[in-house]
Amino acid sequence: MNLTSEQRAELIRLAQAARQRAYAPYSNYWVGAALLTASGKYYQGANIENAAYPTCICAERVAIFQAVFEGESDFAAIAVVTANGGTPCGSCRQVMAEFGLQTVVLIADAEGRLVQETTVKELLPGSFGPSDLKT
Ligand code: THU
Repeated sequence: MNLTSEQRAELIRLAQAARQRAYAPYSNYWVGAALLTASGKYYQGANIENAAYPTCICAERVAIFQAVFEGESDFAAIAVVTANGGTPCGSCRQVMAEFGLQTVVLIADAEGRLVQETTVKELLPGSFGPSDLKT
């Protein structure tokens, strides 16, 4: 799906706002995400850390899991905002891949500057996915 400039701007604005809600007292690396479904709904997420470090969850997955819980699993785009325009981690790339390789990924910094516009397929080439389990 081709994003309009309004959708692109809204995704980044929502991810910036979501970033303010991060719970990241250990890394102090605040991450915000915003997801746009094919049906036109937006979902936000922020990273939520834990004193037992491996139980931390990334912003992207908070947004995606909320959407899936509400019955949405067709995603047009996801925006990720960090202080320095960092890219989604491997686990989040795998979770994104589950729901479609064509999803657009917008990576922006805290000021909302677009650092990279890519797709899940580009971020996770050769991915293992649902079709691999159909034998
Ligand atoms: N983090 C995200 O929320 N998304 C990513 O894609 C990269 C990492 C979070 C997890 C942890 O709370 C903090 O950033 C530092 O790794």
